[in-house]
Formats: sequence, structure tokens, C-alpha cells
Amino acid sequence: MIGIDIVKIDRITKMYEKFGAKAYERFLSKKEILLIKSPQTAAGFWALKEAASKAIGTGIGKKCSFLDIKIKKNKHNAPLLKYKKSLRKKYNIKKSFVSISHDSGLAIAVVVNILIK
Ligand SMILES: CC(C)(COP(=O)(O)OP(=O)(O)OC[C@H]1O[C@@H](n2cnc3c(N)ncnc32)[C@H](O)[C@@H]1OP(=O)(O)O)[C@@H](O)C(=O)NCCC(=O)NCCS
Repeated sequence: MIGIDIVKIDRITKMYEKFGAKAYERFLSKKEILLIKSPQTAAGFWALKEAASKAIGTGIGKKCSFLDIKIKKNKHNAPLLKYKKSLRKKYNIKKSFVSISHDSGLAIAVVVNILIK
């Protein structure tokens, strides 16, 4: 299963200007917020979570919220993604592979889920 999403970085910047820290709390956990060093990273994380929700076919909503999807970074700064356990179980997800990029004011993310047979 695959999902993709693209976000205007400016949208995230404006959200932050308007709501301050609450803007990030809306879609990121405390640990994830500590990884944010710029609006482009925040936009990439937003895109990553939207892409992850598409990869299971639900979109962001009741079945899968932003906080049900967890992002970490490895020692090389590559993003890593894990759904909460109940979602991994429900959608038979063995492992998620992800990638983020940003350029020209846009952030884009792709998620590929490998399913348990
Ligand atoms: C990692 C790299 C491919 C990113 O490419 P880029 O064109 O600069 O930037 P992009 O916008 O396409 O991608 C940036 C995103 O890639 C992801 N990323 C960063 N390092 C990564 C890695 N090692 N593996 C996979 N993804 C990585 C991150 O999500 C990053 O965004 P974020 O930090 O805001 O979360 C590039 O910087 C690179 O090759 N770096 C390693 C080499 C290097 O840093 N050399 C300098 C010291 S010798």
C-alpha cells in the first residue's frame, strides 16, 4: 500500500504564526516537536502523516488521527514512521518505508507499507 502528499510550507508557517506552539501540537507529539528545526521540516512531517493515512486508505480522521502516526529520525536524519499498534494490527502492517523532500516552497512525502501475508 502506498500514499503520497504535498504541502505548501507557507501554510504551516502561517499556522504557526497564528496559533504558536498549539499549531504543532495539533499534529505532532511532544517528541516529534523536538525534531522540528524549521517550518519545512514541520511541513514534511504534516505531508508524511497525510501520506501515511492514505497508505491505509482512511485519510486523517476518526479511524486514523495525526497522533496515531509516529515519526522518529535515525542517526543519519532519515525519517522513520510507525503507526500505533492497533492500526498496525488492523491493517496488517509489517513495516513502513518513507521519504520526505522539500523545494520551491513545497514539502512532499511518500509512504509504502509492507503488509503481513
Ligand atoms: C539527505 C539528502 C539526500 C537530502 O537531500 P536534499 O536535496 O538536501 O533535501 P530534500 O529536501 O530532498 O530532503 C530533505 C529531507 O530528507 C530526509 N533525509 C535527511 N537525511 C536523510 C537520509 N540520510 N536518508 C533518507 N532521508 C533523509 C529528511 O526528512 C529531510 O528533511 P527534514 O530534515 O526536514 O526532515 C542530502 O542532503 C544528502 O545527500 N545528504 C548526505 C550527504 C551530506 O549531508 N553531505 C554533507 C556532509 S559530507
